[in-house]
Amino acid sequence: MTELTFFLDNEDDTIAVGQKLARHVQAPLTLYLTGDLGAGKTTLSRGLIQGLGHKGAVKSPTYTLVEPYELEGVEVYHFDLYRLNDPEELEFMGIRDYFTDNSLCIVEWPDKGEGLLPDADIHIHLSYQNSGREIHIKALSEPGKKLLAAIK
Ligand SMILES: Nc1ncnc2c1ncn2[C@@H]1O[C@H](COP(=O)(O)OP(=O)(O)OP(=O)(O)O)[C@@H](O)[C@H]1O
Ligand SMILES: [Mg+2]
Repeated sequence: MTELTFFLDNEDDTIAVGQKLARHVQAPLTLYLTGDLGAGKTTLSRGLIQGLGHKGAVKSPTYTLVEPYELEGVEVYHFDLYRLNDPEELEFMGIRDYFTDNSLCIVEWPDKGEGLLPDADIHIHLSYQNSGREIHIKALSEPGKKLLAAIK
């Protein structure tokens, strides 16, 4: 199985998907999160990062581009590339150094980094659907498929 689509009624449902991912995710892994402004990418990231044990807030690093979280057993890097003007800027921030054998990289707005960003293992797309959201999860690698099978 490489794709899965379902409906998320409210914010709690979106957080629950992140928490579920947290229970099964294994580094290294790269997760792309796409969808319109306000679709729920950061909400899902919050469920995932807090599910991995982070106690504080999770805000999108809109201006800093990346927020690191040192968690037990895994380094998490949460990217928001919305304000990236040119994918080349990723070279200047040393993008490759974040994608290590022990890191989970969550990337909002990955299309802004096209060409310089490592490929995703799993791609989650959120879209507005009435007052809720539709979530579409696509596995793009063997680790991605394993994760998708585990959460389904
Ligand atoms: N399944 C859902 N149904 C309805 N509302 C939701 C759902 N999931 C999240 N939301 C709400 O939608 C908003 C999503 O905001 P969020 O910051 O997560 O979006 P985003 O995709 O990260 O936006 P941006 O592109 O600006 O970073 C929040 O107000 C959240 O409460
Ligand atoms: Mg966001």
